[in-house]
Parts: sequence; structure tokens; C-alpha cells
Amino acid sequence: MKNFCTFLTFLFLLIVSVRSDIIQDSCDEAAKGDANIKSDFCVASLRANPKSQTATTTEDLVPIAIEDAIATATATGSTVSKLLQNTSLDNFTRSCLEACSELYSDAGSNLQSGGEAFKSKDFGTANSDISAAVDAPGTCEDGFKEKQGVVSPLTKENADMFQLAVIPLAFINMVK
Ligand SMILES: *[C@@H]1O[C@H](CO)[C@@H](O)[C@H](O)[C@H]1NC(C)=O
Ligand SMILES: *[C@@H]1O[C@H](CO)[C@@H](O)[C@H](O)[C@H]1NC(C)=O
Repeated sequence: MKNFCTFLTFLFLLIVSVRSDIIQDSCDEAAKGDANIKSDFCVASLRANPKSQTATTTEDLVPIAIEDAIATATATGSTVSKLLQNTSLDNFTRSCLEACSELYSDAGSNLQSGGEAFKSKDFGTANSDISAAVDAPGTCEDGFKEKQGVVSPLTKENADMFQLAVIPLAFINMVK
């Protein structure tokens, strides 16, 4: 009987360890605490980075989430540069895109410095730097709304950037 109980305990622990999924659990917790976070998007973006396979804690996921956000900030910066090559842009759209270019460049730097601050356990700086990156895509998007009839060419990029920046911010607040 004693052996059987030991066996059951072993089996239970095995099942728990196999089923525990730090990415899913962290994303679910982040989504629960912040209505802006979509757990599916969070899980998919982290799984897409092979480094996430060895993560065992939410803390391990922070630099990975930041890396993903930096990659998107860089890619969106390139998209904006390409859009700016269009010589027939109206002045308003051009000035919006130039502002977005700077916003995305700053967002990349803020994510970088936020990640370094997190590594040195300076959670206040990490929080404020990454918060600045979270605000950038909304500021970019709002610029286009200031003139009637203008449609933002970056709506999807801005929505993705917001999601990707808000995930590490939520994780930092969960582990600090
Ligand atoms: C360039 O901008 C004009 C005006 O906004 C637009 O109609 C056109 O489709 C753009 N061209 C390209 C290649 O994006
Ligand atoms: C657009 O900007 C150019 C260069 O700054 C300027 O010469 C032109 O007058 C502007 N056009 C409009 C419609 O404001």
C-alpha cells in the first residue's frame, strides 16, 4: 500500500511537471491582469522565439519578450523608411511618417535600455523605459487621425508593436 501511494504521488508529480507550461501560464496571468494583453498572441510570439524553449520562469521570458519587441520595432522602422521613399506623399502623411520613424527608433532604444535595467534589477527604470515603448505605437497611430480622410498605413504594425511591448512590461510587474 505504501508503495502504491508513493507511486501515485510520483505519477501525480510527473503529470504536473509535464503539464506545467511557463509560457502559457505567464501569458494567462499577464492577460488576466491587463485587458490589453491577448494570451494567444502572447503565447504565439514567445513560442516563435527558439530561446523560449529553455525558459523555466516568467523572469526568463522577459529578455525574450523584449527581444521580440525590439525586432518588431526595427522591422517597423524599415517599413516606415520604405513608405517615406514614396515621392507622391502629401505633406501631412509625410510628417506623420517622419514622427513615427522617430517614435519607433526611440521605442527600440527604450526597450534596449529597459532590458538592461531589468537585468540589473532596476525595476523602476525598466518599467518606465518599457512603458515609453508601449506608448509609441499609439502616438504614431493618433498622428494620422488629426486630419480627416487620412488613413494610417501603419494600423496593423502599431497594434502589433503595442502588444509586443506591453507583454514584457506585464511580466516585469509580475516578477519584480
Ligand atoms: C504613394 O503615395 C500616394 C499618395 O498617398 C499613393 O496614392 C500611392 O499608392 C503611393 N505609392 C506607393 C508605391 O506606395
Ligand atoms: C509641402 O511641403 C513642401 C516642402 O516643405 C512645400 O514647398 C509645399 O508648399 C508644401 N505643400 C503644401 C500643400 O503645404
